[in-house]
Amino acid sequence: MRHLDRAELTQLLDSPVFHLIGDVADEMGVDAYVVGGYVRDLFLERPSKDIDVVVIGSGIAVAEAVARRMGRGAHVSVFRNFGTAQVHWRGEEVEFVGARKESYSHDSRKPIVEDGTLEDDQQRRDFTINAMAVCLNRERFGELVDPFDGVWDMEDRLIATPLDPDVTFSDDPLRMMRCIRFATQLNFEIETETWEALHRNRERIRIISQERIIDEIQKFMASDAPSRGWELLFQCGLLEIIFPELYALQGIETMYGRAHKDNFWHTLEVLTNVVRALAADDRERADNGLWLRWAALLHDVGKPKTKRYDPAQGWTFHNHNYVGEKMVPQIFRRMKLPMDERMKYVQKLVSLHMRPIVIADEEVTDSAVRRLLFEAGDDIDDLMLLCEADITSKNQQRKQRFLDNFQLVRRKLVDLEERDRIRNFQPPVSGEEIMERFHLPPCREVGTLKTAVKDAILDGVIPNEYEAALAFVIEKAKKMGLEVGRG
Ligand code: CTP
Repeated sequence: MRHLDRAELTQLLDSPVFHLIGDVADEMGVDAYVVGGYVRDLFLERPSKDIDVVVIGSGIAVAEAVARRMGRGAHVSVFRNFGTAQVHWRGEEVEFVGARKESYSHDSRKPIVEDGTLEDDQQRRDFTINAMAVCLNRERFGELVDPFDGVWDMEDRLIATPLDPDVTFSDDPLRMMRCIRFATQLNFEIETETWEALHRNRERIRIISQERIIDEIQKFMASDAPSRGWELLFQCGLLEIIFPELYALQGIETMYGRAHKDNFWHTLEVLTNVVRALAADDRERADNGLWLRWAALLHDVGKPKTKRYDPAQGWTFHNHNYVGEKMVPQIFRRMKLPMDERMKYVQKLVSLHMRPIVIADEEVTDSAVRRLLFEAGDDIDDLMLLCEADITSKNQQRKQRFLDNFQLVRRKLVDLEERDRIRNFQPPVSGEEIMERFHLPPCREVGTLKTAVKDAILDGVIPNEYEAALAFVIEKAKKMGLEVGRG
């Protein structure tokens, strides 16, 4: 965090838009302050986007006057029921609001009364670090107003509410999610009373829409340490309410002295490993690996449903990857995550995440690697990254053996890809060609022949080439008693 005195704040705010707002406010005889996230980010040296301005008087009137002075190219939208107005100008967006006593109108049809002082407005905000204001009026330009010691909390790296946290959280329970999101994004601690209030108020989260909850989750999922967000959610009791499938992974059971690992903490370790591997990976990713992070989070989500104790084998989670694969769309739908190719990608990684481990545990055969490549297609590199992240064994020897075998799998993947071009492979003899040659309508035999060619190529019986595939199909068809046409 950077310490900023008035001169430095003045310099940082030295742009036409802030001076214009200050001048207009002076002319109208009201005070105007830049407030909230914008001020916080100045101290944290983070790029800030939207500007929030609070006016001690009518925010709408100042916004309209500011837009008039900006002239053409400025556009103002007024939301009278919320007492706010947005001004768009030269790519910047400024939101104006009048200082108010109540931050939330319980009846949105009733226009909000703008009758508060600056401090009324500040104390109705979520956290002390978000409740700092800097004056824009000419005489006091750059003066910081920080009645709740947001600067100290930034220095101590603390998330704390300006008021009694029970009041702040019951005003808007989404703030519980914001609390955890900020703690995770900024790597701050949560102040003790605020933390206790999270626990006490957790049930109130049920009145918040899933869209707003997932928004906060996505923000911390994209941060440097998303596992910490999940850990905090778990510890304050919110996780059990908002994400029961993930919560169910927690716990260790023991039978006849044999215990299984805690799959919740294991999952968080895998997520952390994935984030680390992504940082070291130089491939361009539009989404910062967000969906690979989700795949890590969900890779073992099928485990609680498949857990059995077998006297011979100990604890087993047979087919947990397939059960997990089925759960992914259900979870995405409920959490309001996108039900498109991003969900399919997560589903595919969850489904395939055991394959490289099984291959690496046994002999690494060409056939097994070809099949893996065929099924994973272009996602093979992400799958390998996930699987390496999944090796969290504390037994160094065992861990090394897996990692060495993974290297072997990776080398074979490269070799086979060069030789056989299996990735995104389409069998060289199509279903139509089979139907034509053997005078067949669409029927089971066509499917059998197609599968046989695919298997022969993946098993390395024939090369991935048209001539060889055609000869193979004809041979196979003869064996099946089909009559071969000239085609
Ligand atoms: N705010 C609040 N309670 C909320 C949401 C927002 O008190 N539930 C206040 C905070 O003062 C916050 C400001 O409104 O700083 C702006 O909110 P928003 O734009 O949602 O978030 P930022 O704090 O700017 O953070 P980010 O841009 O990282 O979302």
